Amino acid sequence: MTEILGIESTCDETSAAVVQDGRIVLSNIIASQEEIHEKYGGIVPEVASRKHLEALPVVVEEALNRAGTSIEKIDAIAVSKEPGLPPALTVGYAYAQGLSLANKKPLIDINHLEAHISAIWLVEKGQKAQEIQYPYICLLVSGGHTQLYLVESPIELRILGKTRDDAAGEAFDKIARLLGLGYPGGPIIDKLARNGDEQIFRFPRPMIKSENFDFSFSGLKTAVKREVEKQKVALTRYKDNSDLHKELNNNLITDFAASFQEAVVEVLVEKTIRASCELGVNVITIAGGVSANSRLRELLARACKASGFTLFYPELEFCLDNAAMVAARAYDLL
Ligand code: KG4
Ligand code: ZN
Repeated sequence: MTEILGIESTCDETSAAVVQDGRIVLSNIIASQEEIHEKYGGIVPEVASRKHLEALPVVVEEALNRAGTSIEKIDAIAVSKEPGLPPALTVGYAYAQGLSLANKKPLIDINHLEAHISAIWLVEKGQKAQEIQYPYICLLVSGGHTQLYLVESPIELRILGKTRDDAAGEAFDKIARLLGLGYPGGPIIDKLARNGDEQIFRFPRPMIKSENFDFSFSGLKTAVKREVEKQKVALTRYKDNSDLHKELNNNLITDFAASFQEAVVEVLVEKTIRASCELGVNVITIAGGVSANSRLRELLARACKASGFTLFYPELEFCLDNAAMVAARAYDLL
């Protein structure tokens, strides 16, 4: 039995977790800085690193306690080394290094994106991990990255395509900001879109038919921005009747959320399915913060069913940044 302590601080979550045999999550403590960054409408790296520094000793101690273990009993320490916000990464890495040296425990450097992919294996104590056969296609969609992978074994991960500009999560965050909805935008848009009509605005589906597996979301962002401005002008007509103005505005926002989300999700689904068809791989997984999106899960599940592919997704709590996935990835590398 192997117990790994994972540490994560690449962005705005400070997290520590203890995972048994790369699968069973004994603890997964996440201190989020969302509220602080919400004030600024995005992440301020210097603020993030200061908050990580404060939170790290607390979350590590809590993770060990909740798992009913101690640093002496841990087999190895795993830490996200890259990619991420440099000031945030440095703080977490230095802390993990100190812990490893002081306690004579091996330190395993982890790629944060590969950790997201390994989140697929994680389960709570008492549950059984999903049985997934290699090779599989993984769609990794987070705030900083959008990539399609062919995963042939735990250590053979081939990038098939990636975003040329904005990541999918970044697009969600920027559109939410444009609509005055707060940060992070993904979960808010996901929720609002359920009350909206995705047919109202027909936004572009960038690169949906391109032969490669790359993505691009910045043109979509511009198209939404242009339409928002147009609608704002149209709304000024109702300014004198404030109730009507408010109601029209609320409807517009939910329709914008649904129409924008639909455009992103359609591109993601189409390209993932095409990669599976072209490579003859019939197992698909998803990973990263945007993989929590309910419409993505719905449309991808529908497309997989139609094509005869098997779809696996991580538990919601392991989609967003967390340290359990870092420990899971370390186990894959042992
Ligand atoms: O993987 P993650 O926690 O951090 C990075 O490694 O970037 O992903 C965060 C991103 C944010 O952009 C957030 O808006 C997005 O994931 N996100 C979502 C949803 N939940 C989080 N996007 C769409 N729908 C969601 N339900
Ligand atoms: Zn992440």
